[in-house]
Amino acid sequence: MSQVKIKKVKHAVSGTLLFPGDKSLSHRAIIFGSLAEGASSFTNLLSAEDCICTREAFKNLGVKICSVSPSEIQIVGRGLHALKAPKKEINLGNSGTAMRLLLGILAGCPFRATLTGDPSLSSRPMRRVTDYLSQMGAVFEGRDNANFAPITVRGGDLKAIDAKLPVPSAQVKSAILLASLYANGTTSVTEPVLSRDHTENFIEYFGGRVRRQGLKVSVEGGQSLKARSFEIPGDISSAAFFIAISVLLRAKIHFRHLLWNPTRTGILEVLKRMGVSVHAESSDSKGPEPAADFYLETRDLRAFEIRKEELPSLIDEIPILAVLATQAEGTSIIHEADELRVKETDRIHSIVTQLAAMGAKIKAEGNTITIEGPTPLRGAAVDSFKDHRTAMSLVVAGLIAESETIVRDIECINTSFPDFFHLLGSLGIEVFFK
Ligand code: S3P
Repeated sequence: MSQVKIKKVKHAVSGTLLFPGDKSLSHRAIIFGSLAEGASSFTNLLSAEDCICTREAFKNLGVKICSVSPSEIQIVGRGLHALKAPKKEINLGNSGTAMRLLLGILAGCPFRATLTGDPSLSSRPMRRVTDYLSQMGAVFEGRDNANFAPITVRGGDLKAIDAKLPVPSAQVKSAILLASLYANGTTSVTEPVLSRDHTENFIEYFGGRVRRQGLKVSVEGGQSLKARSFEIPGDISSAAFFIAISVLLRAKIHFRHLLWNPTRTGILEVLKRMGVSVHAESSDSKGPEPAADFYLETRDLRAFEIRKEELPSLIDEIPILAVLATQAEGTSIIHEADELRVKETDRIHSIVTQLAAMGAKIKAEGNTITIEGPTPLRGAAVDSFKDHRTAMSLVVAGLIAESETIVRDIECINTSFPDFFHLLGSLGIEVFFK
């Protein structure tokens, strides 16, 4: 297993960064291009393992997809009903988004298909989608009542439902909304707090209709989608590691053309409360989602509190926010982050134990994380738990720690951000692979 050695950064850091396309948007671009009628093309598509799994899945379902370059793709869609039974199992690697959204689509297709994944994905709960999709009429087989992959789905003949989600989850909402395109009648999903609304935006942008009433979103069955082409804005969740570098090293980094959807920019709201100034300007975006350029100015860092209602807008940024909290004055509290227990790894356990090994004053009580700062970090040998966001958060922690830090099992970074170390290098930050 490969590992990386990181040293404390002692020089001034500055630069301008462009990021690969947002992961959530890249999955959806492949999905909507495949379900639409006509030829779509997308540029700045994320070429990382998770999205490659989605692309290969649709090829296995009979869609004509051509990669012009790693970040540019052309898809000839033949509509919602043109997918064909796959000849083999569909392996979705580490990607929860790919598996949950595909379960929604396959629920509407009149054939059998089996979805598998790596050990992490095979231990993540799928009943949160298969229960609703079963109510709509799809039939599932899999361990623990179709809770764990491999899961076989036999779809077709769906009826509309009115789903009330106990937890905000864009993956669950999206699975149901995608299935609703195949259902008789109008399906509604109500969330306790709004989660990322990319699927709603994509349905509209590809010519479909969505009704949004507060936390309730409804989609009618029987609609068709029309092909579209656009550039995908940069991934704000990958940029989050460089946002943290900008804050921790007081580095002047210009962030260019990043996704700027308020359901995703929660980390910047927290930074403002910490005392960081965010200077943003909108950047021309022709697709379904807004984009912006920005830079940050940091003086003193204050501790923060994150309440449950705010979590969906920064759910993937909690590990890196925990690193930031170690350097802020006071006690930071991240309340009831239950959903982190069921991510690619249990991220409460991974970040609390590994930052504690680096000297952070961090603890979890139940699912609430408390961090006291500022605390100097010290280098240590730490584990990614094969989770990409834990791995990158620990690399960033290593950049401010005394002596050397070793982060083990870093291949997982390829699931979402293969360019991570390259972008670090472009800022003059050297790391050493072992
Ligand atoms: C995603 C939704 C979130 C997020 C994941 C991507 C999406 O998951 O953590 O990285 O693209 O819909 P949940 O819906 O499980 O919160």
